[in-house]
Amino acid sequence: MSELGQRLGRRFARFTTNAVVSRPALWRLLRPLTRYQFDRLAPQWTSMRSADAFEPLEQALDALPSAPNRVLDLGTGTGLAAFAIARRLPGATVVGTDLAEEMVAEARAATPPELAERVRFEVADAARLPYAAGSFELVSLANAIPFFDEVGRVTAVGGYVLFSFSGGPATPIWVPPERLRRELGARGFTDFADFEAGSGTALLARKAERE
Ligand SMILES: C[S@@+](CC[C@H](N)C(=O)[O-])C[C@H]1O[C@@H](n2cnc3c(N)ncnc32)[C@H](O)[C@@H]1O
Repeated sequence: MSELGQRLGRRFARFTTNAVVSRPALWRLLRPLTRYQFDRLAPQWTSMRSADAFEPLEQALDALPSAPNRVLDLGTGTGLAAFAIARRLPGATVVGTDLAEEMVAEARAATPPELAERVRFEVADAARLPYAAGSFELVSLANAIPFFDEVGRVTAVGGYVLFSFSGGPATPIWVPPERLRRELGARGFTDFADFEAGSGTALLARKAERE
């Protein structure tokens, strides 16, 4: 894809993120173009990621008080964050989901043999996940558009959500930390912790036990 095409794509990703965070109902209109955009980017996506893209995510993983067993990586793309999580959490099963079938195909093809038994990839829309409530002890979103109701629903009580943005506020898909706290707090998340590494940021939060 040309440099101009990539620049327009980044702008569209930022526009879509802002729109959907403010009004999730707009996703129905933005979904087809988002999927088309990422299907087209899939073959070159991994080569576009910097070596330190997941450092904030890894810092946040190191801060987890206990190791989760069931992990969901939303908007997994070519699976790089899912692989990083599986390496950091050797006891965990990791499901990576993405809207774009081409991304999922790339992720499956790139799965290292030593992770193949614990990491799998599925096509799914983060706005409407095919998983039961409380299915995951850790839900990760690396540079991914958040659908807060679904994040809250599939996270187990006592489990964690981890947002990471490889380029901090310059990441095309970026949500300000105060907005993340507000949306997550409204859905029962607490114990927020911020991380910075390289040019990236991350936020970890725990889903509180019911009162
Ligand atoms: C910026 S890429 C990030 C990919 C990967 N997490 C990474 O950091 O390399 C965003 C990904 O989210 C996917 N995506 C966008 N909207 C989605 C949705 N509603 N459900 C699932 N995946 C979605 C796109 O197809 C794309 O692969």
